[in-house]
Amino acid sequence: MEEVITLTYWSRATNPMGDDELLDILRVSRRNNARRGLTGLLLYRDQCFLQVLEGPEREIEAAIKTIEADPRHHSFRTLCREVGERQFGTWQMGFENLDSMADPAETSNIMKLQFDPEYFGANPTTAQTLVLCFRGIADPSVLASVAR
Ligand SMILES: Cc1cc2nc3c(=O)[nH]c(=O)nc-3n(C[C@H](O)[C@H](O)[C@H](O)COP(=O)(O)O)c2cc1C
Repeated sequence: MEEVITLTYWSRATNPMGDDELLDILRVSRRNNARRGLTGLLLYRDQCFLQVLEGPEREIEAAIKTIEADPRHHSFRTLCREVGERQFGTWQMGFENLDSMADPAETSNIMKLQFDPEYFGANPTTAQTLVLCFRGIADPSVLASVAR
């Protein structure tokens, strides 16, 4: 069994993000993460990001250093870091924009959760539960039609 580092963080976007800007982040993430053996999921809601990244420790550290320094977001806060099994298989970076979820029925319970670091900090397993919920409904091929 492959052991990986799983890191979950929260951050706030510097400016509200449109689809084009989010797709730019995704496109680059998928290219780089494929090279680094990283997988995970990025959620966006109310101008905030929740991302889970998993992979070899050295690659996680290198990626996080770059991501944390990205001026497109700030107030980066690590919520959880642990060693375990890979949860996101071949997803170089799944993505869901929760602000534009099409089917509220699918997400109604999840959407009741607050999406802020104080809440996640006080409820450490909630952020991971949230991202794992989205593993089931987010579309890993969201960029399939966009050239990588
Ligand atoms: C919220 C957020 C999440 C990001 N996630 C990733 C990621 O998973 N992998 C990645 O390589 N870059 C990610 N980036 C982009 C990096 O900060 C950086 O712009 C990029 O890695 C630079 O790649 P390049 O040197 O190939 O141009 C993310 C940026 C933001 C704002």
